[in-house]
Amino acid sequence: MTPTRRGLIGGLCAAGLGAAGLGACGRAGEGQAQAEPAPSPTPPLKSFARFPVGCAVSLQHLNDPSDAALVARHFSQVTAEWEMKMEYILRDDGGFRFDAPDAIAAFARARGLRLFGHNLIWYAQTSPAFARIDGEAAAFAAAYRNYILAVAGRYRGQAVGWDVVNEPVLDDGSGLRDCLWSRNLGGADYIRRALDHAHEADPGAVLLINDYNLESLPRKRATFMRLVEGLLKAGAPIGGIGTQTHLATDLAGGAVTTATRDLASLGLPIHVSELDISLNRDRSAFASLAEKRARQYRLAHETAAAFAALPNAQRFAFTLWGLRDTESWLRSPKENPSPPWDAPLAFDDAGRAKPMLAALAAGFSGR
Ligand code: XIL
Repeated sequence: MTPTRRGLIGGLCAAGLGAAGLGACGRAGEGQAQAEPAPSPTPPLKSFARFPVGCAVSLQHLNDPSDAALVARHFSQVTAEWEMKMEYILRDDGGFRFDAPDAIAAFARARGLRLFGHNLIWYAQTSPAFARIDGEAAAFAAAYRNYILAVAGRYRGQAVGWDVVNEPVLDDGSGLRDCLWSRNLGGADYIRRALDHAHEADPGAVLLINDYNLESLPRKRATFMRLVEGLLKAGAPIGGIGTQTHLATDLAGGAVTTATRDLASLGLPIHVSELDISLNRDRSAFASLAEKRARQYRLAHETAAAFAALPNAQRFAFTLWGLRDTESWLRSPKENPSPPWDAPLAFDDAGRAKPMLAALAAGFSGR
């Protein structure tokens, strides 16, 4: 039975979900006895899960004490949203800068949070340092290995895992993306090499391939799964699958559940790696804001429940792609140049828990 928004929220309000319940149940005092005790603070999201619950963070946000406190309270893992990517680390002259990623790693270590590395190789981010040796096979291959050894090696024993290659599959599912890496190292070979170099750098890290729209594009998912199967058969050190799960509220109910089960059929651990649920990307006609919010609640619950239903060995982690709506990449000037402002995350601009948090908690805990 599809949980109704009110039913679940009502239940969680009774369970004292605090701000989340309060926000969803209406303000305390409206039609409620004033004498009722103030709600306890929202219970930590991670307390509802028997697996790591992650959040994408940036140093800028972690330097805000209220954000740092919310991250430490609700999550057990962090992913650097930007500062562990090649665009940040690899300078144009070929040098490295690790100040921000080291600070994020230190934040995680100081609070006993897992650190997840994102990402080593991505078609969308190269560097002049590599462009200068484009086509020089031996130099390019050596620099590629050196970069991966330097980055994954630096966080050896700290990062629990890495998105070794990000977004390798074409959206139409017709094959792998053509990119600087594939042109110099071979179509799937750049992926295999990256996995081997990352394993050499940190044999204890779980190495994943990560992609998006695997729930909404079945053909892309099938191609992604063939890629993973091929890597497994070839003995590549792949240890998991990242499904980014950037959703829009017009996604059909059941699609996430189908995709989760399909991906899990390969037997590898699954990382819901970048969950956000966009209201603005909903292309359905005439859907009211209230309806989109109800859809967001249902999709959050479905995604959490589908992941929680996996065998324990396949629940790598469940990560939200940000803390507050205002900090979401979907609120960047490029993605959201004018109102209505998107609200894709579990905490509102002021850092208050939204019904989406209650939905996730309910999904994690089988309610
Ligand atoms: C995005 C970040 O959220 C932005 O802050 C940054 O400017 C661009 O990258 N899929 C991914 C992420 O794997 O790395 C992207 O993150 C969002 C899409």
